[in-house]
Amino acid sequence: MNFNLSEEHLMIRDAARDFAQTELLPGVIDRDNKQHFPDELVKKMGELGFMGIMVDPKYGGSGMDTISYVLIMEELSKIDASASVMVSVNNSLVCYGLEAYGTEEQKQKYLTKLATGEYLGAFCLSEPEAGSDATSQKTTALDKGDHYILNGTKNWITNGGRANVYIVIAQTDRDKGSHGINAFIVERGTDGFHIGPKEDKLGIRGSDTHTLQFNDVKIPKENRIGTNGSGFRFAMKTLSGGRIGIASQALGIAQGAYELALKYSKERKAFGTEISNHQAIAFKLADMYTEIEAARLLVMKSAKDKDLGKNYDRSSAVAKLYASKVAMEHTVEAVQIHGGNGFVKEYHVERLMRDAKITQIYEGTSEIQKIVISRSILRD
Ligand code: CAA
Repeated sequence: MNFNLSEEHLMIRDAARDFAQTELLPGVIDRDNKQHFPDELVKKMGELGFMGIMVDPKYGGSGMDTISYVLIMEELSKIDASASVMVSVNNSLVCYGLEAYGTEEQKQKYLTKLATGEYLGAFCLSEPEAGSDATSQKTTALDKGDHYILNGTKNWITNGGRANVYIVIAQTDRDKGSHGINAFIVERGTDGFHIGPKEDKLGIRGSDTHTLQFNDVKIPKENRIGTNGSGFRFAMKTLSGGRIGIASQALGIAQGAYELALKYSKERKAFGTEISNHQAIAFKLADMYTEIEAARLLVMKSAKDKDLGKNYDRSSAVAKLYASKVAMEHTVEAVQIHGGNGFVKEYHVERLMRDAKITQIYEGTSEIQKIVISRSILRD
């Protein structure tokens, strides 16, 4: 066991930190207010290799490991969780899914562009009536020989309005339940594919979240990912990696709030001294530090499991459950430490508190993580 980061990992972390400070920080409040994340910043993240972090360089990726992914996600999320969710979805749910389960043709056609940031990807599983209960897919894809016909609605889709490539999960044979589900690649602009209005959200307001509608969308058979009926397992395996991404996002949000609170507590004076000299504040900082450190170890453990080729379904659920709880609780504490200033946008912590909430909801709610963990430990 080695708890030290390598020189290479430190360089990767520093590059992400530098990008977050110089490029993301300046406009982050404005982007949150306007609910907008500019294409130029996505392009820059692509140039830095952040859009295909773990993808093999032969497909245009950076060929880094999952530890590097976590480090980049933490640094981006400390400053702007709207940027980091775009990175997480593109990397974990779209690039990984295609690299691990796609055909060579699919990789050449889509992955090479997604990994460089030329294309942006979206992952479409959730529906109005199938959020946590992901096997209850109402979207259908009827097999018509050389193509499928796709009908249905997908909700809360990250990158929904601006993606080029959408991985869509749909039911192809209802009688087979989870074994009758498939995953398809749908290109933006395909006839019958409509992008609904953007959601007005509590947090991660710079990220682009939409409802999508598919009306008799014709999908060539070669756009199915994996063998017939493997779509649910594809979604579950892909989401396990996604949960490492969201866990590291939660970690970054918590760390960002902690750093702001620590700095503020050494500057702000009350009762004749800096507030960090009051035990009420110092103990809050101690709790924040301890629990964030514990979350980091869980996130790194799961990333390491993935890099070692071990099963990471359980460790990713544990990391996400814990890191998202820490992010929610300690962003609230960071606002408290800032007092009245914490309620004001220019101090950043109120945004981090709003952004933290989604980490307990998307890519499986905390309650879903407990299902995954409890089933896993009871199987032992
Ligand atoms: N790997 C491989 N196979 C798996 C698996 C995994 N991780 N998890 C389940 N399966 C298999 C099961 O073994 C089972 O196969 P058999 O029938 O052969 O035994 C089959 O899949 C069905 O599994 P379950 O019986 O466990 O299914 P379930 O209905 O009880 O649901 C669940 C399981 C864990 C609750 C699942 O529905 C789930 O994870 N729900 C949450 C969905 C989710 O995370 N949504 C997030 C949306 S994406 C998003 O948020 C992206 C974004 O934009 C940020």
